[in-house]
Amino acid sequence: MAHINSFDTLCSVDTKHLPLSQAYTLRSEWYTEQYVFDEEIKQIFSSKWVFLCLEQKIPSVGSYTVLQYLHHPVIAVRDRNNAIKVYYNVCRHRGGPLAYHDGIATTNVLQCQYHGWTYLLDGSLRGVPQFDKVDLFDKKDFGLIEIPSIVVNSMVFLCFGEPTEDIPTIVSTVNQKLPPNYFSTKKYHSTVEYIVDANWKVYADNYLEGYHIPLVHPTLNTMLSYRNYKVETTNEFVLQYSPITSSEENELALYYFMYPSMMLNILPGRLQTNVIIPISTQQCKVIFDYYYDEDVFINSPSQIVEDIRFSDEVQKEDATICKAVFQGLSSNAYTSGRFSVDTEAGVYAFQQWYRQQMCNSSNSKF
Ligand code: FES
Ligand SMILES: [Fe+2]
Repeated sequence: MAHINSFDTLCSVDTKHLPLSQAYTLRSEWYTEQYVFDEEIKQIFSSKWVFLCLEQKIPSVGSYTVLQYLHHPVIAVRDRNNAIKVYYNVCRHRGGPLAYHDGIATTNVLQCQYHGWTYLLDGSLRGVPQFDKVDLFDKKDFGLIEIPSIVVNSMVFLCFGEPTEDIPTIVSTVNQKLPPNYFSTKKYHSTVEYIVDANWKVYADNYLEGYHIPLVHPTLNTMLSYRNYKVETTNEFVLQYSPITSSEENELALYYFMYPSMMLNILPGRLQTNVIIPISTQQCKVIFDYYYDEDVFINSPSQIVEDIRFSDEVQKEDATICKAVFQGLSSNAYTSGRFSVDTEAGVYAFQQWYRQQMCNSSNSKF
């Protein structure tokens, strides 16, 4: 079929629910078209909870983390009551940033980096230099704008619109395979960001299957028991897991993908979180945060260095294949493909979920 130029036509052509063995992958227009990207911002990224970080990344009163999420500059700070507050990183004077990088607010105030207005950690405007001649100006009208956020099991989620999902229940389902207090026992180590030259869903699809591991990740392939690689899917997340070949205690590597764009990569002693943030139809940012058990920090610093080095190697392999795949999807040669029933159930589940969010199709059954 010819290229589809409208969102409604794409929805009507590509929402039929078929079982995995008969299903087709998402048509290429879902990855390449600006009209899809605009609709994703409305249907997904402005109405769902999205993961920010574990609260340990903001460890003490006054510490903060900043990021650009689509067109939203964000600052998350720990307030004087030890609670996490998330604001737009946007000064109410003329839109300047409160911070460019993660840090700690000295004397517990956030200061705009443009003309120096200061805000308390509760978001209220405090200091306004050289403003005494301004008529009818009330500081109460110019506090920071808060973004709805929730902390569940140490995980900080935020929502740029009206959240409708029950995120605590979703998190509790994820938690079932993990030890009690799993997340709260991890300590933040560092962050690495990657720009990937591919649509964000190419990165998600790639994460959601182990089919590519033997060819794309030859070293990783020797460390995982690929033949025992398992996939479980739910309406909210996909779990892939595999025994670690070097582990004498049959330990597992667990890979959670929580819709729409959050990943938890769990190895003994280590949690790595990834967030995919779309930038445009053809580019996304992926943020890797590293957390470790306290004893790994103390006893195994070289293990941490090697863990981050090896993750970087695997990520570069993924970024290279994602870029090439996106070029393939953008070419005249590709419209839609098929799934391996044995290994691509996770991709299928994500794409079914995605179609339902985007088109709200009554044809889809989940
Ligand atoms: S923009 Fe913030 S003080 Fe001017
Ligand atoms: Fe990969």
